[in-house]
Amino acid sequence: MKQRFSALQLLKLLLLLQPPLPRALREALCPEPCNCVPDGALRCPGPTAGLTRLSLAYLPVKVIPSQAFRGLNEVIKILIQNTKNLRYIEPGAFINLPRLKYLSICNTGIRKFPDVTKVFSSESNFILEICDNLHITTIPGNAFQGMNNESVTLKLYGNGFEEVQSHAFNGTTLTSLELKENVHLEKMHNGAFRGATGPKTLPCRAMA
Ligand SMILES: *[C@@H]1O[C@H](CO)[C@@H](O)[C@H](O)[C@H]1NC(C)=O
Ligand SMILES: *[C@@H]1O[C@H](CO)[C@@H](O)[C@H](O)[C@H]1NC(C)=O
Repeated sequence: MKQRFSALQLLKLLLLLQPPLPRALREALCPEPCNCVPDGALRCPGPTAGLTRLSLAYLPVKVIPSQAFRGLNEVIKILIQNTKNLRYIEPGAFINLPRLKYLSICNTGIRKFPDVTKVFSSESNFILEICDNLHITTIPGNAFQGMNNESVTLKLYGNGFEEVQSHAFNGTTLTSLELKENVHLEKMHNGAFRGATGPKTLPCRAMA
């Protein structure tokens, strides 16, 4: 069989391919089917058959708007990490993701506790991880309402939390709750766990 390219031709081709490489890398960071507008909004519209995992890291976006993941009916995992430019996660950003089982929001620049309510996931063993977001100061009331109708594991560590408000965990069944390394956390409202079931294990040094 005749070779299509000589070694020299192949080398030339590789050299030709080199200049666009940084762009290719940038595009690799913004996964299909997303749109990652620098200083703008992240949108990952579905449906996309077979898409179960969405890893979003080092993106230039500033905001995750309402219904950003609309129609991603099959997505199980969403990871939002190391995205310092991100300032806002708007209410309803994660609404209606029925298969979602794992949501991680870590090391971002958001100022407000992200709206993770109304995910309406019916998967058991739902895990929410919110970590290393230094600018979030408050866990508000009803912060996890409607996330999941089964039990949830909350890993909330390394954040800028100063206060957990009354009824923060209202409406949840907690398998476990991690609140470690929130070094500024001083005010845990007496009624923070009002309306919540569990957890069986609350780490003793939660506020250390
Ligand atoms: C959660 O919702 C699903 C689907 O609607 C249902 O099958 C399941 O029984 C519900 N679980 C609880 C604890 O209500
Ligand atoms: C607690 O959650 C229930 C629904 O689960 C809601 O009806 C109630 O208003 C909430 N309580 C407060 C004080 O927010």
